[in-house]
Amino acid sequence: MNEESPKNSGDGNPEPPEEISRRRFFEKLSLALGGLCAAILGVPLVGFIIAPLFRDAPDEWLPIGKASAFQIGKTVNVTIEDPSSLPWAGVTSKSAAWLRRVSEEQFIAFSVHCTHMGCPVRWEAGAELFMCPCHGGVFYSDGTVASGPPPKPLVRHEVQVKNGEVFLKAAPIPITTTL
Ligand code: FES
Repeated sequence: MNEESPKNSGDGNPEPPEEISRRRFFEKLSLALGGLCAAILGVPLVGFIIAPLFRDAPDEWLPIGKASAFQIGKTVNVTIEDPSSLPWAGVTSKSAAWLRRVSEEQFIAFSVHCTHMGCPVRWEAGAELFMCPCHGGVFYSDGTVASGPPPKPLVRHEVQVKNGEVFLKAAPIPITTTL
């Protein structure tokens, strides 16, 4: 049908051309207003969702506890709060690390995440090894790879002791790419 051909108004009479063009105008106006509303609501929403991807992970020293609470030579699991997580992350913002008191003043800490595909490693005190349950990755007590698929040593966290309190520097969870 020709775009400008008169339509039936419902009572059997064709609509006059000015009625049609007014209807077209309102159709276009509704579409334009709908698009404008979608843009007004959509742009901030999309920005809100993707903004965290462009944020640098904050460098934060997290308090772990009194140094006196840790025995020399023991490796223990400590819970840490991921400072890069968003306020609504809930329990997913919790992470962990393996902390070892080496001497009176010296501590070392390892990420719990295996460098193969990120599974949490466990410390086997008897064997003095970190074991990964997923694909059999094994790490020596200094975090270097003993066997299995992990391509690199466990990530180390910096640790410092200040006024008798242990602080661990949070690091983003390492992204691994090796399959
Ligand atoms: S995730 Fe640890 S060996 Fe694969």
